[in-house]
Amino acid sequence: MTQTRTSATFPPPVMEARRWLEGVTFSADRPLINVSQAAPVDPPPLALRQAMAEFAVSEDSAHLYGPVLGNNTLRTELAEQIGAHYAAQVSADQVAITSGCNQAFAATISAITDQGDEIILPTPWYFNHKMWLDVAGVKAVDLATGDDLLPDPDAARALITDKTRAIALVTPNNPGGVEYPANLVSAFYDLAVEHGIRLIVDETYRDFDSRSGPPHDLFRKPDWQSTFVHLYSFSKAYRLTGHRVGAIATGPDLLDEIEKFLDTVAICPGQMGQFAALWGMRNLSQWVAGERDEILDRRAAILEHMPGLTSKGWRLLGLGAYFAYLEHPFDLSSNELARRLVSEAGILLLPGTMFVPDHSPSGKRQVRVAFANLDRDGIRQLFDRLQALSF
Ligand SMILES: Cc1ncc(COP(=O)(O)O)c(C=O)c1O
Repeated sequence: MTQTRTSATFPPPVMEARRWLEGVTFSADRPLINVSQAAPVDPPPLALRQAMAEFAVSEDSAHLYGPVLGNNTLRTELAEQIGAHYAAQVSADQVAITSGCNQAFAATISAITDQGDEIILPTPWYFNHKMWLDVAGVKAVDLATGDDLLPDPDAARALITDKTRAIALVTPNNPGGVEYPANLVSAFYDLAVEHGIRLIVDETYRDFDSRSGPPHDLFRKPDWQSTFVHLYSFSKAYRLTGHRVGAIATGPDLLDEIEKFLDTVAICPGQMGQFAALWGMRNLSQWVAGERDEILDRRAAILEHMPGLTSKGWRLLGLGAYFAYLEHPFDLSSNELARRLVSEAGILLLPGTMFVPDHSPSGKRQVRVAFANLDRDGIRQLFDRLQALSF
């Protein structure tokens, strides 16, 4: 096959896992438990859908191109909300709206790298980050984490070369679930400043962080905008996955470069999604708080059920955001385990092999459970099935 930019990377993992379901039937008394994808399955609250419908009918601008970096109303509101969340001052010209957080990452990488440059990614990594780096011809330098899934700044320092352009963190983490302590994020920021590189922090799951108060102090650093690139998604908090709205907060100079990417790829973010994000931020803070409580309760349910699995040799490595990251006790690769779980246990989850480079052995022992769509009863059933396994 001819080498092309896209042939440099692997097929979309969630789609691949979905194909494992083909030809498998599930009985009514034992339906499939799908914990493969980290996305809300329910639509946004009715009031938001009604507001969107009204907007679509009554506003011509709902159907037109808008500014490349997003509508000013949304940029201003998000800048204010970021300021409130992180106890900092952020202005609208430091914020851009994108067509989802994946695009925010792609745009940022395109604006800060050339082919052959390097980006450091802690592993297990978020696979779409790795995929975009492959497609962009940028080398993903993997920074292995230990049992606590937290990256070590000193280990990262040893990986920095004259080709390194950024370190990209995800907190709360996908796939590991772990919430990076503020002083760890700050240590990575200092490292980035020391080496004149960027620190990208994807905070897609920030609304489900179990901690109260600002999760880090990067927005309060003097001249943060020269180093820090904050990425955000409206997909999870407001259940807007299908409307593709995300954001970037960084310096206006970098946003000028990012604007070239966004203009070429999408021209502007969709108006319906931008409207929904703005309406959601203005009207749904109580509702989002309730969603967070629900996720934290599900997380607590996982902890309650863990002893049963631990007694069978499983280990919980990380828990938070939408994820539990587990080490399994079986003498087979997680890739094979995941396929067998479909037919033998009625469970669809993603194997750790999808979150590490091929040369890394850790992924074979690990699996990711995206539990956000399972209520307490669903979590009990999932754990009953995992506990009953013998291979
Ligand atoms: C860490 C992380 N970043 C980005 C995304 C994608 O977000 P969006 O739907 O805004 O593109 C996801 C979705 O799963 C994610 O887990």
